This record gives sequence, structure tokens and C-alpha cells, in this order.
Amino acid sequence: MFKLQRPFCLNISHFLRLHPEITSFLLHHMGNSNSKFINSNTLTPSFHKSDSSDTALSNRTEDRDLSTIPPYSDDSYYDERKANFRFQDGRRYHGVKGIASILPNDDREMDRLSEEHYMVKLAFDGNIQAPVKDLLKQGATVLSAGCGPGVWMLDCAHDYPESNFLGIDISPVFPISIKPKNTEFMLGNIVEGLPFSDNTFDFVFARLLYGFLTDDDWNLAIKEYIRVTKPGGYIELVECDSRPYRCGPRFKRIMTQGCRAMEARLLKPYIGPKLSGMLEEAGLIKINSNFSSIPINWGGPLGDIGKSVFCETMKSLKPWLTKVIDMSPDIYDTEIQEAIKEAGEFKAYFNMYYAFGQKSIEA
Ligand SMILES: C[S@@+](CC[C@H](N)C(=O)[O-])C[C@H]1O[C@@H](n2cnc3c(N)ncnc32)[C@H](O)[C@@H]1O
Repeated sequence: MFKLQRPFCLNISHFLRLHPEITSFLLHHMGNSNSKFINSNTLTPSFHKSDSSDTALSNRTEDRDLSTIPPYSDDSYYDERKANFRFQDGRRYHGVKGIASILPNDDREMDRLSEEHYMVKLAFDGNIQAPVKDLLKQGATVLSAGCGPGVWMLDCAHDYPESNFLGIDISPVFPISIKPKNTEFMLGNIVEGLPFSDNTFDFVFARLLYGFLTDDDWNLAIKEYIRVTKPGGYIELVECDSRPYRCGPRFKRIMTQGCRAMEARLLKPYIGPKLSGMLEEAGLIKINSNFSSIPINWGGPLGDIGKSVFCETMKSLKPWLTKVIDMSPDIYDTEIQEAIKEAGEFKAYFNMYYAFGQKSIEA
């Protein structure tokens, strides 16, 4: 069961006052395919925007008393932080049982995620693809599931000051005290069940969880996203397809080794193109999916940031990957450097996908 930690309690109470639908649960429990793609005839990506109508429903409930939030202590918060970390080869990882940890959760990884955020924003020409922008301008309740350092949320909170954003993550890597007043963050594990009552959020956003969720986890997570979304609300997922295109032999070899190792852990490195089918199967309507190609080490600003994110991702994966594929750290570094050079020569790219769908009003 989710336990509120002191700093989150203090900061979250204001947020919860604004959102009694979230409070009520905590108190009781403690497509279409229009793609931005690179084809072999063009060097620059092209993008065709979705034409979905820009609407979603909001449904607020009455205010509730917060005085019964359970007591807490600073010490338990810090003890828990320590207890939930483990260290390997100079990198810090979460220590939550049952969740894969092929990626670290230290400051360097948070920097990588910030850069990746701007890469995805550039690739899709914005932060949100679902038709919720009008609603966000008026004021909506948004969940970012697996928010990480919360860069997407912070960006959106600035763009939509009338809306309120709540981020949840298994690791306390998000801002705790210095953050926009329309944001809050809390610890929680998506696959153990989101600590919110049914029909709480107008919009649920979850991005780049492919390094953490197994097949079964994905099904659970999508069910949970749908449960906590209001009828008429939207869910948007953004994930990579880790299959590189137009790459040379070295780039292909290291990616194939990495993806096989992920699959051996029941993770889904190629989930991007499957997102829309998963949302459809889970019962969402008005599904829309699209992808954007991300050049690696060629192709202008997106190619530059694509190279940097790729290099940093491979560094983040290094402690885990070198072990599972039995490669020495020095050889690994050389392979990555050569793969990057080769990617520029061959004009290699990956595809990043989004998919969104609406929870039926009758649900
Ligand atoms: C690769 S990061 C992406 C962060 C953020 N969504 C973004 O796009 O910048 C994945 C995040 O999901 C979190 N995460 C992984 N499994 C989770 C789970 N079961 N419940 C909550 N958070 C989870 C990780 O701790 C990590 O911060």
C-alpha cells in the first residue's frame, strides 16, 4: 500500500485540496497513422499533424477535509530513500523489488532524461499529442506515471498554468520543494496499483517505461491508467522502437545484443509500434498513433541531440549490459564510439512512437 512521505505530505496537501477526488482515495487507503519519418529519399524528417478534435471531459467533485492524513516523520523519509537504492559500478539504482533496473536513477541519469525530454519534444514538435490542449488551458487534472525527474511535467505546468499535474515514480528523483505551484510528486509503483480512486484524472501521460515494465506489467499499467482516467479523458503513451534502421554492422550488433538481453528479462524494447494495438485491446476509443524518426549523429539539431541521448543511454546501460553480454568495459566503450561514427556514415535512425486513446464516456 502506498505510504505518504513527509515532504510529499506537506507539499501535496495544497494540491490535494484542489483535487478532492485524489484525496478521497488517499484518505481511505493510504488509429490513424500520420508519421514523422525519415524515408530513404529524404534527409530531413517530415511531420503530419493529427487532425483529432481538441476536446476531453472534465468532471470535478466537491472539496473534502484533509485533516486525517496519517502522521509521518522526516527520518522515515530519508531512511526509505537510502533503503531503496543500490549501487553498482559507480551508478545508483532503485532497489524496488519486482521492477527491472537496467537503468540507473542517479543525477547523471536524470540529466540524460532531461535531454531525452527535449529530444522527444523536438521530434514530435511539442509535449502532448492527445487532443486535450483546450481542456488543459481551461484547467484539468493530469497524471504523469513514471515521471522520473518530472521535466515533462515542469514544461507542461508552465504551458498550462490553469491545470494541475501530479507525478508518481518508484524513485524519489523528482523535485521536492522547488517546483511550480501547480505540480506535485509522490512515490508509488504503477504495477502495484495506482493510489488513486477510479475516474480521477482528465489526462494520464506515461513515457519511456520500456526499460522497466515486463509484458504482464504493461497490461496491469494500462488497466490502471484507464481505471484512474475520467470517462471521456485521454491516455497518452510514448515509447521507443529500439530497432535501428539503416545502420551498419557494429551499430546493429550492439543494439541486437542489448535488445536480446532486455527481452531475456521479459522487457519490451520494440514496444513503440505496438502501443496503439494495446490501447485498443484495452478498450480505449479514438486511438491515434504516430512516430517520428530520430537520426543518430546526422540530420541537424535532432541528429545532434539523438547522438548525445544515444551515447548517454549506452553509458547508463553499461554496468548492466557489459555484465549480461560479457563484454569488457573498455571494449564496450570502443564499440559504442565506433557504432556512433558508423551511425553518422550510414544515416541510421530510430523511431519514437506515441499513441493515445480516449476512455469511453459510457465506461
Ligand atoms: C526512463 S524514465 C522516464 C521518465 C519520464 N517519464 C520521462 O519521460 O522523462 C522511467 C521512469 O519510470 C519510473 N518507473 C519505472 N517503473 C515504475 C513503476 N512500476 N512505477 C512507477 N514508476 C516507475 C522509473 O523510476 C523512472 O524514473
